[in-house]
Amino acid sequence: MPNDGASKLDPDHSGALIRPATDAAIREAAAYLRTGHLVAIPTETVYGLAADATNSLAVARIFEAKGRPRFNPLIVHVADLAEAKKLGQFSEKAMRLARAFWPGPLTLVIPRLGNCPVSELASAGLPSLAVRVPAHAIAQSLLAVAQRPLAAPSANRSGRVSSTTALHVAEDLASRVAMILDAGPAQHGLESTVLDATGDSIVLLRPGALPAEDIEEVLGELLIRTTHNGTKPLSPGQLESHYAPRAALRLDASDVRAGEALLAFGPTPLPTRGPTLNLSPTGELVEAAAQLFSYLRELDASGAATIAVMAIPDTGLGEAINDRLRRAAAPRPAI
Ligand code: TXA
Ligand code: MG
Repeated sequence: MPNDGASKLDPDHSGALIRPATDAAIREAAAYLRTGHLVAIPTETVYGLAADATNSLAVARIFEAKGRPRFNPLIVHVADLAEAKKLGQFSEKAMRLARAFWPGPLTLVIPRLGNCPVSELASAGLPSLAVRVPAHAIAQSLLAVAQRPLAAPSANRSGRVSSTTALHVAEDLASRVAMILDAGPAQHGLESTVLDATGDSIVLLRPGALPAEDIEEVLGELLIRTTHNGTKPLSPGQLESHYAPRAALRLDASDVRAGEALLAFGPTPLPTRGPTLNLSPTGELVEAAAQLFSYLRELDASGAATIAVMAIPDTGLGEAINDRLRRAAAPRPAI
């Protein structure tokens, strides 16, 4: 991807995509991340496709690179519990789990703090955030140099298996990352265990490298298993709880009616005197994805009863953008 400035960022001029994780390579990776580029990084579970979690454009590039047709919420990696506490709220149980298992292959979903600096796109518009503190020494060094939370899903194209070696990452994502930090095969080869710690009871959202029994021992109670006890369907249903604007959405609008706000796209926004935000005046889908959640929220706050949304091409990231818009526009069940 970024040949721009590559000579500055590539002090030993190796030009190689896969780089042994030396101190120099880690500094270079951090420089890429700080400037909005994607870097594949080793963790103890699987390789991650990392971006600066506070930079919406960088986070949008993750979705573009993975080719995901939907904006699934991503895991945000931080150096330690103190850093995690700057992003989200820890219940007493969440604190106990963090103290027992971090650093390590445990991801905690917790409520976002009001001043959480992580891009809304990273949590797909949800009021919660998935965080974990990786145990891997190279991931830790990188976090120390980069000095920011890193959003990182597994480093594979959508629908393919998670990558456990740098070579796997290269096979899937070679042309889409600035660099792949190679630290050998991932230790666990299985993703982290994901727990919902937003409520009173802890819910197992995804079984993973940390056994549920170990967690239950620390908690002194059983986890709620959404797959087994039939209380709630697993993940797909969660998507319905994504931020839905209060205002109605009118998609593929070719005009703006009285009282409507406009969510525009491209160089020729529809004429209107009402509140308007343009997802990307240049018509770029990565930029549009980066703005989507915050612009929906802002137009909603304008008080308009309806948000007219201009057509967005259904190619590349446009597919995920349109999926999100269609679900926001769908009739809502009465509560
Ligand atoms: O081991 C791992 O966890 C790897 C390494 C790179 O850290 N990462 C990973 O991320 O597997 P990803 O994006 O492939 O998986 C994220 C998981 C998904 O199951 C997603 O639904 C869940 O975490 N998740 C993230 N944020 C959530 C939220 N706010 N609420 C519920 N589930 C969430
Ligand atoms: Mg994955």
